Formats: sequence, structure tokens, C-alpha cells
Amino acid sequence: MSDNSEKKIELKIKSKLEQKKKKKTLDDGFKKNKVVNEVLDKITILQLYDLINSKIISYVNGVVKAGKESVVFWAKDPEENDIALKIYLVTTSNFKKRSQYLTGDPRFTSVKKGTKNIVYLWARKEFQNISKCYDCGIPVVKPRHVSKNILIMDFEGKDGKPENTLLESEIDENDYHQSIELISDLFKKAKLVHGDFSEYNIFKTKNGLKLFDLGSAVDRTHPNTMNFLKRDINNITNFFVKRGLTVENPADILERITK
Ligand SMILES: Nc1ncnc2c1ncn2[C@@H]1O[C@H](COP(=O)(O)OP(=O)(O)OP(=O)(O)O)[C@@H](O)[C@H]1O
Ligand SMILES: [Mg+2]
Repeated sequence: MSDNSEKKIELKIKSKLEQKKKKKTLDDGFKKNKVVNEVLDKITILQLYDLINSKIISYVNGVVKAGKESVVFWAKDPEENDIALKIYLVTTSNFKKRSQYLTGDPRFTSVKKGTKNIVYLWARKEFQNISKCYDCGIPVVKPRHVSKNILIMDFEGKDGKPENTLLESEIDENDYHQSIELISDLFKKAKLVHGDFSEYNIFKTKNGLKLFDLGSAVDRTHPNTMNFLKRDINNITNFFVKRGLTVENPADILERITK
């Protein structure tokens, strides 16, 4: 998508949203463009009903974390297993930032225009990325299902409290090596680059590190692969340096992974 056409879509959506704001309450009780918790618009709520009817989820317990672009919920499946629902925001999505991770990836050549479609595509992309890693034996959260803007995975944590991320954990040398190995395995085995690899997107579990938040991950053939890979290595290196660990030169790691 060119910068110009992105601008056009953005303007169009802005004016659509303005128009919607002017409309009053609808007969069905849903105010147009009105959302609960910034995420539960009418389509998403109907989508949740569908997931319940199809026995993919049983009920939703509550919010785990509300971010700018998605809200993660703790839910249960019909067997009472904990599951996590990552619901991408349709109304306030910052798709401009996202499109750089879509255009150029051969898996997503036809990007349908319109915010909703881009958000659905983004959710599907994250699901595909996680599934690819999971199938390659890379430690990631276990993917379950995706439909529209809702991504469903196993819940990492207990009683609705998510597992600590690297940022929230005491760390050691081993975590550093595992992190670099994750980046290397992503590149070599899953042929992906995470694009947002950081202490915020890795759980530290009793069985080692577990990666999540793979919406930004791109195929290795993406034109920006090397920049994303370099940035991923630098970001995680900086984190371990800040925590006082001795680290390898990031340039050497980059060379080793890509050679
Ligand atoms: N499978 C899961 N199990 C338990 N908690 C989860 C799971 N996935 C995400 N979370 C919780 O939700 C938070 C946000 O998740 P995630 O990083 O995927 O979304 P995000 O950062 O909002 O995404 P983005 O980077 O696109 O804004 C995590 O820090 C974690 O606390
Ligand atoms: Mg995140």
C-alpha cells in the first residue's frame, strides 16, 4: 500500500467515524460506534456469542490487560481450561503502523482496504505466526483459534493472573542465551523475524522462556527483514545489559544467525 492510498483510507475512516458519532442510539440497544471497554463493539459481542455457540469458549471471566491496540481476556473453554482471548480493537486501530509489517510479506499480498479488514488480517497473521512457531517446536503460547478480530490461545498463568514477563522476573545468564536462541530459531526454523522482540513479549515460566505477541512477525523474505532482526537483537541485548549481564556483540549475533 502506498503512503498516499493509506492517507486516503485514513481520511475516509475518519469521516465515517465522524458521521457515525452524529447518529443516535439504535433500536437494538447498541449505540453506533460505541464500544464497551474500548473493545466490545457489536460485531465483537456477536462474535463472542458465535464462539460460545460453537463450543470454542464457554465463558469470559474478565480483562487481563487492556492495551492501545488489543485487550486480552481470561476465559474458559467447555472443559474448564483457562484460555486467553486477544481481541484486537477495530475502532481505534493504528493500522498505519501495522501496514509496514503486512506489505512486503509474500503471505499477505492482497491487503483488502478498510480498517476492519486490516484488523482481521492482523489477527490472522498473528495466529499464523504463532502456529508456525508452535509447529516448529519453538516455545510459544499454544494457539487455538482465530476468527475476525479475536485470537484464542492457551492461558499462560494461574487464576487469571498472567505469567511474569522477562521484565517482571529475576533474570540470569541462561535467560539471555535462551532469548538469543529464540531469535535464532525463529529465523532459521520458522523463517520469521519477530519485529517486536522484547522483555515485554516473553513469559518466564518454570519450564523456560515462552514467546508471545507475534502480530508483527514477518516472513524472512520481507524487504525489511534485516532491519527488524537487527532491532530485535539490539532491543533484547540492551535489556540484559541494563540488568548487568555480560553480553555478546549484537553484530556478531546477527552474523551468526544470518550466515
Ligand atoms: N496467552 C496468554 N496468557 C496469559 N496472558 C496473556 C497471554 N497473552 C497475552 N497475555 C497478557 O496480555 C498482555 C498483552 O499481550 P500482548 O503483548 O500479546 O498484547 P499487546 O502488547 O497489547 O499487543 P501489541 O504489542 O500489539 O500492542 C501480556 O503482557 C500478558 O500479560
Ligand atoms: Mg506486547
